[in-house]
Amino acid sequence: MNTLSISSARVVPALNDRIAIVTGAASGIGHAQARLYAAAGAQVVAVDRSSDALLELVSTIRGDGDKAVSITADLTSTSDIARLVKETTDQFGRIDILANTAGLHDGYVRSLETSDELWDRLFDVNVKAVFRLTNAVLPGMLERGHGVIVNIASVASFVAGGGGPAYTASKHAIMGYTRQLAHEYGRKGIRANAVCPGMVETGMTREVLSDSTSRFVKAVNAVPAGRFAQPEDIADVALFLATDAARFMHGAGVMVDGGLTVR
Ligand SMILES: NC(=O)c1ccc[n+]([C@@H]2O[C@H](COP(=O)([O-])OP(=O)(O)OC[C@H]3O[C@@H](n4cnc5c(N)ncnc54)[C@H](O)[C@@H]3O)[C@@H](O)[C@H]2O)c1
Repeated sequence: MNTLSISSARVVPALNDRIAIVTGAASGIGHAQARLYAAAGAQVVAVDRSSDALLELVSTIRGDGDKAVSITADLTSTSDIARLVKETTDQFGRIDILANTAGLHDGYVRSLETSDELWDRLFDVNVKAVFRLTNAVLPGMLERGHGVIVNIASVASFVAGGGGPAYTASKHAIMGYTRQLAHEYGRKGIRANAVCPGMVETGMTREVLSDSTSRFVKAVNAVPAGRFAQPEDIADVALFLATDAARFMHGAGVMVDGGLTVR
């Protein structure tokens, strides 16, 4: 197994020569994951619907001497998903790692105020897009008998209050989907796992976290870690799950929440 020093303090198995799709790469956790996967030796295909930020990301990664390309795609579009998988396999011949990170929050809108439209939008991005992209990538992985899927779920995959009902239900769904993938394809060489972050400072939470008097900031500051997460705190664990070091992990939901859910 190859090794690569990510920092002087840690040595983890490298992703050398692995082809990794990272969705939601224009911002937050996906952005940090794309940079870290590239630093670990992967050829990263950075995907998002926001093209300017993607181009900036790819030029930063290349500036660091690592490898990445960008594909602008709306993951709720079946034709965009087909194009993304075709362009990636045409260029690189295969996909080894699929990091499903793109997601939307519902702004804590309560059930009685949640419209059908909001519910559908959350499920389209947080669940159906992941299901469709995974199904588009799985046949190639199964043919080679090897593939890694890393989904970004949430503490909202296990407990209430991390969002409104649309967000919480969609994140419970993605955890169930991750387990089902592990159950169905683990023996065929596919490893599917999820990272379950607590509150992370990203585009998704910036507004909520900017108000130091809000109940969210107070709650987060009371967790054992005493702070909210930075995207890199989550990307580190998402990197671990993508490497061979996590070879015995199937269908896990790894809590990375600073202790938010310990009680
Ligand atoms: N920030 C948190 O506190 C937190 C906590 C737990 C889980 N998560 C999860 O982490 C993941 C990443 O969120 P983040 O915090 O980095 O948010 P973010 O808003 O910073 O990034 C999300 C990215 O997804 C992209 N995206 C959304 N819909 C898309 C679509 N249809 N097609 C293509 N790209 C699309 C956005 O353009 C954006 O760049 C999400 O799945 C989120 O639910 C976040």
